[in-house]
Amino acid sequence: MKHIDIKDILAKQYNGQQVTVCGWVRAARDSKTIAFVSLNDGTSLEHLQIVLDKAALGDVSDYLRMGAALKVEGQVVDAVVKEGGVEVNATQVTVLGECPPEYPLQKKRHTMEYLRTIPQLRLRTNTFNAVFRVRSVLAGALHRFFQERGFSYIHTPLITGSDCEGAGEMFRVTTHPFATPYTNEEDYYANDFFGKKAGLSVSGQLEGEMAAMAMGKIYTFGPSFRAEKSNTPRHLAEFWHLEPEVAFAELPDVIELAETMIKYVIKDVMERCPAELAFFEQHFEAGLRDKLNNIVQNDFAILDYTDAIDLLAKADVEFQYPHEWGCDLQTEHERYITEKVFNKPVFVINYPKAIKSFYMKQNADGKTVAATDLLVPGVGEIIGGSEREADLGKLLAAMRERNMPEEAYSDYIDLRRFGSCPHGGFGLGFDRLVMYVTGMSNIRDVLLFPRTVGSLR
Ligand code: 4AD
Ligand code: MG
Repeated sequence: MKHIDIKDILAKQYNGQQVTVCGWVRAARDSKTIAFVSLNDGTSLEHLQIVLDKAALGDVSDYLRMGAALKVEGQVVDAVVKEGGVEVNATQVTVLGECPPEYPLQKKRHTMEYLRTIPQLRLRTNTFNAVFRVRSVLAGALHRFFQERGFSYIHTPLITGSDCEGAGEMFRVTTHPFATPYTNEEDYYANDFFGKKAGLSVSGQLEGEMAAMAMGKIYTFGPSFRAEKSNTPRHLAEFWHLEPEVAFAELPDVIELAETMIKYVIKDVMERCPAELAFFEQHFEAGLRDKLNNIVQNDFAILDYTDAIDLLAKADVEFQYPHEWGCDLQTEHERYITEKVFNKPVFVINYPKAIKSFYMKQNADGKTVAATDLLVPGVGEIIGGSEREADLGKLLAAMRERNMPEEAYSDYIDLRRFGSCPHGGFGLGFDRLVMYVTGMSNIRDVLLFPRTVGSLR
């Protein structure tokens, strides 16, 4: 069906011309001699006004039903009421898909909670239409950022035989039927699809490192899976994970890459999605555009973990969780640091080695690792990364301390045997970045079908 994007008509590329547009009815208004339809095809936040002359078109009632899919032929003219706008005087209208009155999106504004119960339809609201356009622009900007800098895009496997972080939060992958009669674990896994225990990857990092040890600069971008039962506004069981890995990079290089990347993609969204950002600012986060502007224009803070612990000790706040040196920072601590102390993005660096992953580079102090988390106001941690331990002996020692099976990591260990070098990278929680940029306060509202503990649709 040859038709023109509504966004191009609104951009006045077709003034005076006869056009065909297709879309869904978002609003309709009837009067004695004429009726109006607001048509949206998903290419812009703004709707296109269609003017229906009843004398010429006859009974137009079928064209005025919320949610109906229409094909409209007509002439693009200057809008009569909206100054500087355009509208289409319809000469012919075809109903492509009827929409009965039980269509759930009749009202102008629904609660976010209600909209979560209709994931199959909620994209047809202004809010979700805007979220998903921004999400797409952000993904495109990330690819462009890395491609422009000579990074290779690597697809790492989703089914894995090892748990990247060495933590027990992996979903298992099996084809065994219900009540498979095995008496021991070894037998059970030996008879499963892969002949061994398999799971969904929590991160592409380990394979990413293998690629970086040949390609130099790589990034992965795909789903990661976490079976942790965190029922919070920022945890998903399936999230989108962008992970660059760079050979010959040390922690300051990793930090610089992360900061440059965040600024690049935010600047890009500000240029490409001004209407969406204005919308989010009006409905979801006051001051959103100033916030984004400040991010692009100012340096992020860098804070040593040990100094963060000092700040928490001095804080005039009752924290729920302990915050002595050696404790992991909880959301309340992260938010205090980034929102109350700095009010901008903060890289926390040099965490105690006991609370971080085995692969992180051990610092000379013997206590900390060259790791960093990027914390941002409103969301908390959006990036976790580090320089990697390049020394074979130190890596093996860290694995032994954690009781990790060396055989399961033999491919990874080979990297330290054959041409090991300093390298590092990070993981960006893409869905959390979308939250941060749009002002959405619940991660369930930035994905088509969010997967969270106890919820799968
Ligand atoms: O901090 P994480 O666990 O780090 C890694 O997985 C490293 N292997 C990354 C690397 O160095 N290549 O995860 C990285 C980011 C977090 O900062 C967070 O933004 C996001 O992934 N993330 C989640 N997002 C949504 N739901 C979850 N359950 C998430 N878990 C992590
Ligand atoms: Mg982390």
